[in-house]
Amino acid sequence: MQLEVAGQQLYDTIGSAYPATRRTEPRIAARIWEALGDARTVLNVGAGTGSYEPPDREVTAVEPSEVMRAQRPAGAARCVAATAERLPFADRSFDAAMAVSTLHHWPDPAAGLREMQRVARRVVVFAYDASTPGWLDRFWLTRDYLPEFADLLTGRPSLADLAQAIGGRVEPVPVPWDCADGFFEAYWRRPEAYLEEHVRRAVSVWTTVGPQAERRAVGMLRDDLASGRWAERNRDLAHLDAAELGLRLLVA
Ligand SMILES: C[S@@+](CC[C@H](N)C(=O)[O-])C[C@H]1O[C@@H](n2cnc3c(N)ncnc32)[C@H](O)[C@@H]1O
Repeated sequence: MQLEVAGQQLYDTIGSAYPATRRTEPRIAARIWEALGDARTVLNVGAGTGSYEPPDREVTAVEPSEVMRAQRPAGAARCVAATAERLPFADRSFDAAMAVSTLHHWPDPAAGLREMQRVARRVVVFAYDASTPGWLDRFWLTRDYLPEFADLLTGRPSLADLAQAIGGRVEPVPVPWDCADGFFEAYWRRPEAYLEEHVRRAVSVWTTVGPQAERRAVGMLRDDLASGRWAERNRDLAHLDAAELGLRLLVA
């Protein structure tokens, strides 16, 4: 791995490329907001630029990266500089705490989840799950082009273990074919998108695997798209509207 830095430092380096493709995906937002139940006050941990913050509740955001905080739109919820592992709030300060696409960046995810449970009576987390066998093969991008993705998860606790530790349940969240939020799996049916520099720069995976792996993966994909090999191998995806790629909602 080329860039072994804590998530906050990583986003102070790559964060300015984030808003190009990263925004609220309404179908995933609906799942998150439903899971928040009747919560009136909501803490958004690892809030970034404010995607997925519910417009009809009282939101407080926590975000350690200065670059990300600076990109929050005018009128966004109040944002506190802190990390998940040390939330600067009293016990039970919020009805619910949410965290979206951030858990994998936390140096100590178990501690962060415990903190969320301490400050809120409900916890909702949208995260990637590598608990099931064969998870690397679920997505053609990691299966055929970027197996280095697996290295990023080495030594990380599984979502199943984390869920068990906080007494939560895990629900699958399918990724729509036209997903509006450009996270790593978003373009599973639009493979040409991964050839675009601005698409990759908005996803930390590409920086974290390092330039050599990135160049190789993108070169192979470009060749396979041109030769028709990608289409041949992934024929069954063309008629799917949504795909199960390991994205999960953890609710506790
Ligand atoms: C992929 S972005 C997600 C941002 C936002 N939640 C969204 O859905 O667009 C990950 C965010 O987690 C933040 N982060 C990294 N380490 C963190 C930590 N220990 N505690 C809280 N947030 C952290 C990063 O600074 C970054 O803004």
